[in-house]
Amino acid sequence: MKRLTQGVVAVLALGLVACTSLPGGEDSLYQRLGGEAGIEGIVYELLVEIANDERIVERFRELNIARFQQGLETYLCSVTGGPCQYTGDSMRIVHSGHNFTDSEFNALVENLITAMNRRDVDTGTQNRLLAILARDYKDVVYL
Ligand code: HEM
Repeated sequence: MKRLTQGVVAVLALGLVACTSLPGGEDSLYQRLGGEAGIEGIVYELLVEIANDERIVERFRELNIARFQQGLETYLCSVTGGPCQYTGDSMRIVHSGHNFTDSEFNALVENLITAMNRRDVDTGTQNRLLAILARDYKDVVYL
C-alpha cells in the first residue's frame, strides 16, 4: 500500500514537473499574465502605484525609472516561464545597501496586487506570481 502511494505521488510529481516545465506553454504563468503586453501593463500600473505611495516613493526618487521598468519586466517574464532572460544583477546584489524593511516589502506587494487587479488578473494567477516573488524576500530586505 505504501509503495502504491509512493508511486502515485511520484506520478503526480512527474506530471507537475512536466506541466510547469513547458516554457511559454498554454498554462505558463507568463501566458496567464497576458504575455509580454500583460506584464508591461502590470509593471506600468505598479509604477503608478509606487509613485502615489508615500510609504516608499522616496526609495525610487533617484532612480532611472525607464531602466528599472525594463529590468522588472524582463525579470517577471523570466521567472514566470516567458521567453526572456534576466541578465541583470541578482536580487541580493541589486537590493543590498538599501536596508529595505518588511513594511516596505509589504507595501510593494500591496501595490503589485492593486496593479494586477487593475489589469484584471485573476486571484489564482496573482497568487502564483506572489508565491514566486515571496522567494526573493530574503534577497530584498535588511541588506
Ligand atoms: C519580491 C520583491 C521585489 C522584486 C522581485 C524586485 C525586483 C527588482 C528588480 C528586477 C530590480 C532591477 C531592475 C533593473 O534591472 O535595474 C530591482 C531594483 C530595485 N528595487 Fe526591487 N524588487 C523587489 C522589492 C523591492 C522593494 C520592497 C523595494 C523598496 C521599497 C525595491 C526597490 C528597488 C530599488 C530602489 C531598485 C534599484 C536599485 C538600484 O539600482 O540601486 N524593490 N528590483
